Amino acid sequence: MKKELIFLGIETSCDETAASIVKEDKNGKVHILSNIISSQVEEHKPFGGVVPELAARSHVEKIDIIIKKAIEKSKVPLKAITGVAVTSGPGLLVCLMVGMSAAKTIATFLKKPFLAINHLEGHALSPRLVKKITFPYLLLLISGGHSQFLEVRGVNKYKRLGTTIDDALGEAFDKTAKILGIEFPGGPQIEKYAENGDKIGFVLPKPILHTSGCNLSFAGLKTAVLHASKKIKNKQDKYNMAASFQHTINEILKVKCKKAMEMFLQNNKKNKENYFVIAGGVASNKTIRKNLQQVCADMNFKYIFPPAELCTDNAAMIAWAGIERYKKRLVDDVTFAARPRWPLDPKAPFLKGSGVNHS
Ligand code: KG4
Ligand code: ZN
Repeated sequence: MKKELIFLGIETSCDETAASIVKEDKNGKVHILSNIISSQVEEHKPFGGVVPELAARSHVEKIDIIIKKAIEKSKVPLKAITGVAVTSGPGLLVCLMVGMSAAKTIATFLKKPFLAINHLEGHALSPRLVKKITFPYLLLLISGGHSQFLEVRGVNKYKRLGTTIDDALGEAFDKTAKILGIEFPGGPQIEKYAENGDKIGFVLPKPILHTSGCNLSFAGLKTAVLHASKKIKNKQDKYNMAASFQHTINEILKVKCKKAMEMFLQNNKKNKENYFVIAGGVASNKTIRKNLQQVCADMNFKYIFPPAELCTDNAAMIAWAGIERYKKRLVDDVTFAARPRWPLDPKAPFLKGSGVNHS
């Protein structure tokens, strides 16, 4: 029988202030005892994107109450916590520092271990919150700041197979939405608009579709949407554009996921079962989920698609990464400094979107 582990997780890397208590019981079963998130979407809407100083101020105002709520909801006395885990990069420096100061204070005061978590590792390990799949597995992370294929080889062991060479996928969704006059963040609205549209209403390009391995590129697509938008005359045209954009994304992901799966299989010839998992805000898009389920069936991969609330930024994945790292004795010192840029695979060449959150 194992030891019970309880972690407080804190996340403030971008525009969500979040805290969570996660427990792994003596039988290895995982329990999310609380998962509190306060989004700043309304505060950033007038500016059409996240304003760092505004985000940091909002984190400062909310962090105490969010942590308090997470602890109260979990019904775990603070002194029973095993350790404190906090997102320490990549992300906006002024935002990261808010969560890190709180985490360092709590850990020091309670004399508990402090763990500095890479936000991308939080996403990468999040499927294991839902199901204890074994390493290695293939991850597609698609958010407002990142778009990457990662081979998750173990805790702290990642190989990046591909990344975006320009915009992140969430950025492409948000920019397309902006062109259509939809408020920030428009990704979820594009999905709604697309339901009423004709997916072949507009013909859009698929940059680097058959070149550059499973790397991705969305900047040219965004520019094409901007040019084609000149033909938009009415609401139906907007629906058609949303549907065409989403369809093009799905076509790109289909080809690139298959390529990433081939690369993964090549690296893991002895694997008996191959798992494909997704994370990041864009992974909550239902048409993308359906499309990727079909890709998994075609390529004989099993899949774990965590629920939307664990795909978008949250602190449960940070608490969980804390538990996973603690079990490997990967504990940090409270002098750990925030890392605005922090790639998961340090050997991978630098490309935009490879370890810097520019959302
Ligand atoms: O992971 P996330 O919550 O935050 C970070 O960027 O780290 O992802 C937010 C991104 C935004 O760009 C948002 O527009 C996009 O995810 N998004 C979606 C959907 N829901 C959120 N994009 C397309 N379809 C959706 N349903
Ligand atoms: Zn994220």
